[in-house]
Amino acid sequence: MKILVTGGAGFIGSHTCVELLEGGYEISVLDNLSNSSEKSLERIKEITGKDFKFYKADLLDYDAVDKVFSSEKFDSVIHFAGLKAVGESVEKPLTYYHNNITGTLNLLSIMRKHGVYNIVFSSSATVYGSPKSLPIKEDFPLSTTNPYGSTKLMIEGILQDLYTADNNFSITILRYFNPIGAHKSGKIGEDPKGIPNNLMPYIQQVAIGKLPQLSVFGDKYPTKDGTGVRDYIHVVDLSLAHVKAVEKKSGHPGVYIYNVGTGNGYSVLEMVKAFEKASGREVKYKICPNRPGDIAACYADASKAEKELGWTAKLDLEDMCRDGWNWQVNNPNGYAD
Ligand code: NAD
Ligand code: WQD
Repeated sequence: MKILVTGGAGFIGSHTCVELLEGGYEISVLDNLSNSSEKSLERIKEITGKDFKFYKADLLDYDAVDKVFSSEKFDSVIHFAGLKAVGESVEKPLTYYHNNITGTLNLLSIMRKHGVYNIVFSSSATVYGSPKSLPIKEDFPLSTTNPYGSTKLMIEGILQDLYTADNNFSITILRYFNPIGAHKSGKIGEDPKGIPNNLMPYIQQVAIGKLPQLSVFGDKYPTKDGTGVRDYIHVVDLSLAHVKAVEKKSGHPGVYIYNVGTGNGYSVLEMVKAFEKASGREVKYKICPNRPGDIAACYADASKAEKELGWTAKLDLEDMCRDGWNWQVNNPNGYAD
């Protein structure tokens, strides 16, 4: 089975490429490298000992993407490509809507033109907005608080409408919770540009001495210790959910939606402690005001993915911190090293 991975040079895409290649799938990667480095592709080849084609192309360039589909016959597409920074999406909403939505519309119409009907799409727990209760199930009400989240929710709607119009499609929507960690080799990992927005890359850069201290955004939430609670999932577990989705759902028309999380919620201070233990380094922090738009707590009920895809997260918080630290130590400046 041959799979096109859009956004395959990025954080989650690169890890998924490794798991696909190790699972015996043939892949090609399409990425415009707007938020990634071609070095990640070399590292995927080092880890797996396998080769694959890379198309440096932008999903906004219809003709370039059409050419890719004319040059190879794909059985399935895993669609990671998109912009993902929440704060930036508030400042540049048109860029986010254009890139994420127009890019996806181009991809879908080209897939249809070439008779490629299987797709796995990267959605996010952000589509649940502020959940009324926990754990979160797939049928909870959906809402968003920023343009990035709105692009995810709109694309989910586009995919549903596409299936209604064309019952050939098999569409799997994976709603990721908070992916962290790295491949155990330390060769691929998350490489944020500039100062990280997300908690774990920030903690990692404090631990290695690149940033002086972590700002903990709020300690008065109604949670176990007052700091925000999230469902952190090892990126390799998340990648394996994509492999399962391709395996179980390709060729089975329908729209399938799954939460991809562990079901465990950890607070910011628990994450700091766990990371200090894994790294043997101190993570200095100070308590700061809440970050606007943040919710108190968020964790998944992932039982639907277990029941229907046969997937569960296997790696624990210790694994996530150890592997994230291993990547950071081996690549203090990410792929720029
Ligand atoms: P990433 O930025 O590391 O990877 C995205 C990749 O897409 C990058 O390599 C980028 O260069 C590429 N890309 C962006 N726009 C493109 C375009 N127009 N044409 C071609 N390539 C393009 O991000 P990631 O963390 O690996 O996330 C992958 C997907 O998962 C994204 O869609 C993201 O929104 C979604 N997601 C991420 C998280 C998270 O916390 N990391 C959580 C939920 C959902
Ligand atoms: C986690 C916790 C913060 C940074 C975001 C997106 C979401 C999804 C995943 C793509 C929260 C706290 C953070 C810091 C802190 N991405 N924190 N100091 O906000 O759950 O989700 O990434 O789809 O859409 O919104 O993740 O890692 O930013 O924050 O105290 O410097 O850590 O308040 O409680 P979040 P995060």
